[in-house]
Amino acid sequence: MIERTPDAAGPKANPQSVIDGLRKIVGDRHVVTDPAELQVWGCDWTKIFAVDPLAAVFPGTTSEVSAVVKFCHENRIKIVPSGGRTGLAGGAVAGKKEIVISLNRMTNIDPVDRTGLTIRCEAGATTQAVQEAAAAAGLFFGLDLAAKGSCHIGGNISTNAGGLKFIRYGGMREQVLGLEVVLPDGTVLDMNSSLRKNNTGYDIKQLFIGAEGTLGIVTRATLRLTAKPRNVQLACIGVKSFDNILDILTRCNMAGATITAFEFFTDVAHGIVLKHAAGARTPFAARTPFYVILELEDAPGGGSVMEPLLEKFFEDETCLDAVIAQNSTQFKEFWGLRENITESLAAHGHVRKNDISLPVDKLAPFIKELEAEVAKAPKDIEVVLFGHIGDGNLHINYVGPKGGDKDAFQQAARQVEEKIFAILPKYKGSVSAEHGIGLLKKKDLKFSRSIDEIAFMKKIRAIIDPDGIMNPGKIF
Ligand code: FAD
Ligand code: MLT
Ligand code: ZN
Repeated sequence: MIERTPDAAGPKANPQSVIDGLRKIVGDRHVVTDPAELQVWGCDWTKIFAVDPLAAVFPGTTSEVSAVVKFCHENRIKIVPSGGRTGLAGGAVAGKKEIVISLNRMTNIDPVDRTGLTIRCEAGATTQAVQEAAAAAGLFFGLDLAAKGSCHIGGNISTNAGGLKFIRYGGMREQVLGLEVVLPDGTVLDMNSSLRKNNTGYDIKQLFIGAEGTLGIVTRATLRLTAKPRNVQLACIGVKSFDNILDILTRCNMAGATITAFEFFTDVAHGIVLKHAAGARTPFAARTPFYVILELEDAPGGGSVMEPLLEKFFEDETCLDAVIAQNSTQFKEFWGLRENITESLAAHGHVRKNDISLPVDKLAPFIKELEAEVAKAPKDIEVVLFGHIGDGNLHINYVGPKGGDKDAFQQAARQVEEKIFAILPKYKGSVSAEHGIGLLKKKDLKFSRSIDEIAFMKKIRAIIDPDGIMNPGKIF
């Protein structure tokens, strides 16, 4: 045990002794204490919570992660696990003199197993690096999101990220075959198998997927790969109403189309992207109220699936306009219209972000209630809708004018948000489809989980982390 200062505001141990202890484990170069740098390492994409870590530590191996966690455990020092810090729920925020443990140096990716269709990597590898390693081996990794260049596999696992291809490949949970985790007392739990079938008691690794760093630190993972999708076609479709979007989805399903993405955004979102994203341009002569980004795999024989579907949508006026990407440049341009929404909104003004989900068949009645609530919202709050609508995941973003008071805006947007969250239980919806609870939605867990479920989750957390050192204050 190291020297203690009983009245210290943060960890009980003397801060300088803590830093010296951490330096002994990972080396001086891998402990950051500079206040300006800590503002970066102690924060995720939300940037609305106070940031005040004691230090950020960068272990290079699982053994070092284990030693750092053991040291923190022995000294009752609180830990915030940190990935690419692209999280949208405040899960990686350190605001109370915690130690940030970043996996930034742990980026190794093993050679792809082409026979078993798996890839094994350290948790600090970015999503994009894993996608590229799979592609280089002629295979495909199914998780995709606009933050792929920055977010880590460990962060994807800990948030159970959803993303742009969920409709086809599922979320991060569906990609994980095995995990290695460092528990809150420093024990390394090796569950990093590549088995597809393993019915030998409880599947413990599932607990750590979506746990938002509250149960341990993910250090390595074995992930599932698939064959590359067959020649995909991409269309941007302009429609008049939200009902048209659901009609298109139903008819794609009924036509037996293999949908690899089904995304939507409103014309308000489109206008904001056109204003802020470099090089963005609309593919349409006339703007429409809503747009669908539809990606399909061609038929096995190579025949186009997209064109006949679009022809029918034109014929009965389900769509007002539609354009099929003709080359890789257009492919990128169309995807850019969707993927650049987050960054463009941030450039546009103050934003409060939501990622609710509903059963797909309940989207239409929900949207009607949402519109009625939005009509009552203060006029300077713009409500911007987009999301992974093919799997029932709707992003509601409240946007306030740039330059206005940030806190006043957050409070006003919160009042609208709460009313909309309150509609969800009726439809058995969720306040978070993919971003997680973190600090942002702690009060809202009750809209999606029963008292018994929450009590059970807390029990599990208390068993795994009885001293409450692992990402305290997150989720509950
Ligand atoms: P961080 O933000 O660093 O951390 C997230 C949480 O995981 C925290 O609670 C942290 O403590 C914990 N954590 C991180 N690493 C570990 C680890 N190794 N072990 C244990 N716990 C850990 N999300 C989606 O689901 N779908 C999207 O389509 C999507 N698009 C996005 C687009 C943009 C432009 C941005 C900025 C974000 C987007 N996100 C999306 C949110 C974010 O990218 C995901 O939540 C991502 O999975 C977070 O990964 P990260 O490495 O950045 O994690
Ligand atoms: C997305 O779908 O683009 C992400 O979840 C990010 C966001 O909600 O802004
Ligand atoms: Zn999303």
